[in-house]
Amino acid sequence: MPKPLLCPPDLLSRDLSGKTFVVTGGNSGIGLTTVGQLARQGAHVVLACRRPAEGERARAEFVAAGVGGVIEVMELDLANLASVRSFAGAFVAGHKSLHGLVNNAGVMNTPAGKTKDGFETQLGTNHLGHFLLTELLLGVLQTSAPARVVNVSSCFHDVANGRKGAIDFDDLHFEQRKYDGWEAYAQSKLANVLHARELAARMAGTGVTAVSVHPGWVRTNLVRSFMPVWLQNTVLRPFLRMSGMIEPWEGTQSTLFALLSPEVTEHSGAFFSQLGVYRDKSANGGGWPLRSPNPNAHDDASALRLTAVSRKLVGLEA
Ligand SMILES: NC(=O)c1ccc[n+]([C@@H]2O[C@H](COP(=O)([O-])OP(=O)(O)OC[C@H]3O[C@@H](n4cnc5c(N)ncnc54)[C@H](OP(=O)(O)O)[C@@H]3O)[C@@H](O)[C@H]2O)c1
Repeated sequence: MPKPLLCPPDLLSRDLSGKTFVVTGGNSGIGLTTVGQLARQGAHVVLACRRPAEGERARAEFVAAGVGGVIEVMELDLANLASVRSFAGAFVAGHKSLHGLVNNAGVMNTPAGKTKDGFETQLGTNHLGHFLLTELLLGVLQTSAPARVVNVSSCFHDVANGRKGAIDFDDLHFEQRKYDGWEAYAQSKLANVLHARELAARMAGTGVTAVSVHPGWVRTNLVRSFMPVWLQNTVLRPFLRMSGMIEPWEGTQSTLFALLSPEVTEHSGAFFSQLGVYRDKSANGGGWPLRSPNPNAHDDASALRLTAVSRKLVGLEA
C-alpha cells in the first residue's frame, strides 16, 4: 500500500495564536482531529456541531489532555438553514476575525430523505448548508484576510462505487429519477469541488483562498449509514487497513496542508488529495494539488451555474 501524504512537521508546529478557525462536524472523525491539531498550535477553534453535548465532551477531552488554544463549541445543523443562519449570526456577533473555515461535516450514502428545507439529504447537508454558511461568513473572512476556505470533498466526486460524479441541474433532489445513495453522495462531493473553484475565482485578489480536499479513506464514523462502526473498528480493522483505510490523523493531513501551507495560496480553486481511488489510476497516490480526473470538476460554466442555483435555493438573491 502506498504511504499516505504527510504535512511537513514545521507546518504542524507553527504558532497559530491569534488565529480563529471554524471546523464544521468538529465532534467526530476528521473534524475532531482537525480541531485538536489547530488548538494544539494555539488557535481559537470553533467546534461547530449539531449535537453540542458531543462537542462539549470532545472539548473536555482535549482540555484534560492538556491541549492549548481555545476550543469553543457552537451549535450548527447544516440540514437546517435556520440553524446555519443563527450560527453565522452568533459567530459574527461574537468574533472579530476568521482566518480559516473548514467545511468538513458530511453524511454519506444515506437513505432517501430530505433536509428541513426540503433538499435531498446529502446535497442539502454536504453542499447547500456549507454554501450558505460560507456566504454568510465571507465578509469576516475578507476582513481577516489572508484567510482560507477548505471544503472537505472526496475522491468519490470522481466515481463513487461506480457512479460518476455529475450535477443533475434538472433533478438536483432526485424527484424525477430513482434515488441512489452513492449517486447523491458523488453529486454532493462534486458540488464541494465546484463550490471551492467558483469561490476562488470570485475571491481573486481579496486574500481569501478557497480549495477542496480528499482526506483519504479514513477510519471514522462516516460508514454508519451502511456498516456498524464497531465492526469497522474491531474485527474488520486490520483487513481494512491492508486494503488502504487510514487513521484519522493521516486523514486530517490534506485539510491541515490546505489550511496552513503557504504554497496553497498559489493554487486557489484547486483540489488537494490524499491517497484515493480514481478512474485514472495514476491519480491514486494523491497530490497536493491533484488535477481531478473528473472532467466535470473543471467545468467553470457548471461551477457558476451551481452558485447561481445554490444562492436561490438557500434564499440569497440570484
Ligand atoms: N472517512 C472517509 O473515508 C472519507 C472519505 C472521503 C471524504 N470524507 C469526508 O470527510 C468529511 C468528514 O467525515 P468523517 O469521515 O470525519 O465522518 P464522521 O466521523 O461521520 O464525521 C462527520 C461529521 O459531520 C457531522 N454532520 C453530519 N450531518 C450534519 C449536519 N446536518 N449538521 C452538522 N454536522 C453534521 C457529524 O455530526 P454527528 O456526529 O452529529 O453525526 C460529524 O461530526 C465528510 O465531509 C466526508 O464526506 C470522508
